[in-house]
Amino acid sequence: MISKRLRTIGDLINDNESVTDVGCDHGYLAIYLRQKGNTSRIICGDSKEGPLSQGRKNFAEAGFNDIETVLSDGLKQIDTVTDVIVMAGMGYHTVIDIMTASEDKFAKADKVIIQVNTDVDKMRKWLNENEYAIIDETIIKEYKYYEILVVTKRIQKLSEEQIKYGPVLLEEKSEVFLECYSQKARKLERIIGSLSDEHLDRPELQKQLDDIRKWVLE
Ligand SMILES: C[S@@+](CC[C@H](N)C(=O)[O-])C[C@H]1O[C@@H](n2cnc3c(N)ncnc32)[C@H](O)[C@@H]1O
Repeated sequence: MISKRLRTIGDLINDNESVTDVGCDHGYLAIYLRQKGNTSRIICGDSKEGPLSQGRKNFAEAGFNDIETVLSDGLKQIDTVTDVIVMAGMGYHTVIDIMTASEDKFAKADKVIIQVNTDVDKMRKWLNENEYAIIDETIIKEYKYYEILVVTKRIQKLSEEQIKYGPVLLEEKSEVFLECYSQKARKLERIIGSLSDEHLDRPELQKQLDDIRKWVLE
């Protein structure tokens, strides 16, 4: 069954939008898109043949023979620019490398959906410095918390706290977002409580806690 994470990503894509799923692996996102009624062009790319052939097998089993597959490092071997480009379940360094290598293609897409496994704040910082605007964001919990960004090529001025916590997430302050940061705050309180007053990590951890209280929980 498709994960909540991939379903959430799929639900950010309209049925009439063409899609490239970079790092498609099993191809579950493409299958979900077809199942929910997307009739546009779907291109699935992966840098490894193994995942790609598993994807092809899954498409055949699901009865979707119109999903294209391309062996490609990022977008390097994919010439078409679709309305939407998805990069999910990858490290932020990989996403940055892929976007840097095909800058012109990413600039032409209507929206780029990014879900990195860690360092979402660093991803936002890079996007902000490289003139991508965050037009939507969502956070979900599926065993752990996942933040999903929707971006487009445009200059956007973000403050430090918007980069850290997400401009849309901070604006909306959803239940899941507040739960995520309440948990982080409780964890920080526990760690700080276990440290001596002179411990070198104390000021940095205290700052992290103060910032969460100030920007998210207040
Ligand atoms: C952890 S899987 C994520 C699969 C799926 N996108 C998801 O979110 O469930 C990462 C996939 O990205 C592929 N990958 C890693 N680097 C890549 C690159 N530079 N270009 C294309 N695919 C890449 C890997 O081969 C792997 O299949």
